[in-house]
Amino acid sequence: MFCRVLHKRVFIIPLGLLLFTAISSLFFTRALAATTLGAAAAAQGRVFAAAVEGNRLGTTPYTTVFDREFAGTTPGNEMKWDTTEPSRGSFNFAPADAIVSHAQSHSMKIRGHTLVWYSQLPGWVSNISSGSDLLQAMNNHVTTEVTHFQGKIWYWDVVNEAFNEDGTRRSNPFQNLIGNAYIEDAFRAARAADPNAKLCINDYNIEGQNAKSNAVYALVQDFKSRGVPIDCVGFQAHLIVGQVPSDFQANLQRFANLGVDVQITELDIRMPTPASSANLQQQATDYSRVVTACLAVSRCNDITVWGVGDADSWIPGFFPGQGAALLFDDNYNPKLAYNAVLQVLNGGVGGTPTPTTTPTRTPTPSPTSTPIPGAACSVHYAITNQWAGGFGTNVTINNTGSSTITSWSLAWTFANGQVITQLWNGSYTQSGSSVIVTNVSYNGTIAVGGNTSFGFNGSWSGTNSIPTTFKLNGVTCNIA
Ligand code: G3I
Repeated sequence: MFCRVLHKRVFIIPLGLLLFTAISSLFFTRALAATTLGAAAAAQGRVFAAAVEGNRLGTTPYTTVFDREFAGTTPGNEMKWDTTEPSRGSFNFAPADAIVSHAQSHSMKIRGHTLVWYSQLPGWVSNISSGSDLLQAMNNHVTTEVTHFQGKIWYWDVVNEAFNEDGTRRSNPFQNLIGNAYIEDAFRAARAADPNAKLCINDYNIEGQNAKSNAVYALVQDFKSRGVPIDCVGFQAHLIVGQVPSDFQANLQRFANLGVDVQITELDIRMPTPASSANLQQQATDYSRVVTACLAVSRCNDITVWGVGDADSWIPGFFPGQGAALLFDDNYNPKLAYNAVLQVLNGGVGGTPTPTTTPTRTPTPSPTSTPIPGAACSVHYAITNQWAGGFGTNVTINNTGSSTITSWSLAWTFANGQVITQLWNGSYTQSGSSVIVTNVSYNGTIAVGGNTSFGFNGSWSGTNSIPTTFKLNGVTCNIA
């Protein structure tokens, strides 16, 4: 009798254990696989964030997706100088305050963007003519803004886009009037105003090791050696499909080794539109690579995508014919790239579907515009950096004519099969050897006697000769 009871008990206990194990493993598996970007990244000790635009907050489905998926945010425009101090000493923090309050009520981390930048700068700042006056204005701006948001911002982009592609300092009012010291002056002012906020220098095209990232690296090294406050480097990561730098992770790590945090601050991966399914698959691979690189570097603690979905991205407005750069589509439905990122954040190694076809290249260039009477130009085309298979350039267009240029289109032909892989401060098409670069919204106007520049990276083999003929709006330019 006792034996029969024991036998039954022995049988009942393992069955109960089995059931418990099955139910609990199901539960824990579900619990581990987070279902939003923010939660999945949090489990990895990272913040997954999105840039937000105040005028879209409250609209749906934008806000629904933003609130559900992201654990942090960066105001896209509302903390920039033209909004926060449109005239000297007169501050307007209302648009940014609204975002901060929304973010706080959703427990989001907030990146402050940006205190000192050459763009979206009000005219009164550019019109200051003495270095001491500009320094005073800059310090006051930084101090007032950082003080206003004291305790609410975890990382500030103190200085944005301070370098040219060749690693020299970008010409801007601060550089030109205050000199090299303006960057450290801004960092010191920010530290004094909120000692608990982390301070970043932020830039684009520094994701791989190149002349520009080397310059930022040297600046961080210098600041660290002299005790100038700096806590972080922001890698904007405005990337092109199929072109995530192969040394992205190594580059993040070398900065982290200097003792700063590294953050991916404005991630998007653009492609020609309408998007091909091959490119959308490649984009999923590319996003996975970026997120994998960040997860592999312990000091990489934030990934911010520059917009919620393709419908609100800045890309189509700046690069006509390109877009589809974000994780949600025009209707805010998740894309392949979203699934890939979620999978990587959840610890999966997958999320990297193989492209089925070669990514589509750029469309056929449209004809250049009709020459304007009195139009004349010169072009300086400089190879700033060249390595096996790749090169970087800076191209300057000078308006040597007698009338202001209000939009431009520069055409040339490559002689040796060069292919542009990434271009900034312009929008381009390449068809075979023919290239046309057109202005973007902020650099279409070139005053008489003035100039504008754009740059690009390209691939080459054998010979990399400089083009000999450039046509600006149909007019042949001199070589400068
Ligand atoms: O608010 C006005 C609106 O009233 C007007 O009707 C409309 C007409 O064009 O313009 C609106 O302002 C636009 C503003 O974005 C808000 O949408 C500006 O024209 C437009 O130039 C501005 O673009 C911003 C851009 O910075 C300016 O350089 C983008 O939204 C913003 O996403 C972008 O962000 C930058 C980062 O700060 C730094 N890194 C590069 C990144 C992309 O350019």
